[in-house]
Parts: sequence; C-alpha cells; structure tokens
Amino acid sequence: MHILTFKRVTDGRGDLYAAEGGRDVPFDIKRVYYITNAPEGVRRGFHAHRTLRQVMICLRGSVKLRLFDGRAHEELTLDSPDTGVYVGPGIWREMVEFEKHSVLLVLASEHYDEADYIRDLEEFKEFVKQN
Ligand code: TYD
Repeated sequence: MHILTFKRVTDGRGDLYAAEGGRDVPFDIKRVYYITNAPEGVRRGFHAHRTLRQVMICLRGSVKLRLFDGRAHEELTLDSPDTGVYVGPGIWREMVEFEKHSVLLVLASEHYDEADYIRDLEEFKEFVKQN
C-alpha cells in the first residue's frame, strides 16, 4: 500500500483533480468503477486479487479501508478526493464505515475478471505462503 496525492486545480469554479495512468497512477488504467449508496453499516471487499492493481479514492464522504498482506494489518480512512491508496496484488481488503452519501472511486489495471479474486480468507493465507 502507498498513498498517492493528486494535483488539484482550484480556480474559483470548483476543484478539478487529475489522475493519469502511468503518471500519477502506477499502471495503465483499464477500468474505472465506483461505489455509491452504500447503506449504513455495510461491509464490502473481503477479498484479495491475484494480479489486479488498484487505486482507491474517496471522492465524497469517508470510508475506512482495512488491509491485510497475510502478515500485518493496516487501517486508514479515505476522506479526500486528492488522496488515493494504491493496493497491489495479494492484499486482502475490507471497506467499512461508509459515511452516508460517500462515493468511492476505484481505478483498476485490468478489466473485470472473477477468476482474479480470492474471496476466501484461508485460501488467501495459503496464496500468500506460496507467493
Ligand atoms: P465486488 O468486487 O465483489 O465488490 P465489493 O468487493 O465492493 O463488495 O463486486 C460486486 C459485484 O459487482 C460482483 O457481482 C461483480 C460485479 N462487478 C462487475 O461487474 N464489474 C466490476 O468492475 C466490479 C468491481 C464488480
């Protein structure tokens, strides 16, 4: 995991942020998805990826991100459109405590592929041991 900070252009008409693949984000962006309307108390994620690289940005509101690399746990709150969290392969992630009206944007290095997911924690721990 590492934190990325995006350039903000503020000129009296609002704030504009830019995140360019291969420049601000350490991969070419093949897919963008976003999560809105997360009900109070919902927990999302609970999986890892075998190869996928992602950057998560909370455009509005806040969300707590819990990460586990098979050894250590990390927890951080995403609450600013100028901040992205890079999450590489082999990281178990959980998104919890979505504030009402939050918008979580995710930039991804690959198209959607269910075969890239590890959705079982024990299987993930085994994957970490073998990689
Ligand atoms: P999932 O990645 O499991 O969401 P989360 O980890 O936030 O709970 O995806 C939820 C559903 O959405 C699942 O059925 C697959 C589908 N999906 C797509 O069709 N395309 C995508 O790019 C993503 C990320 C998910």
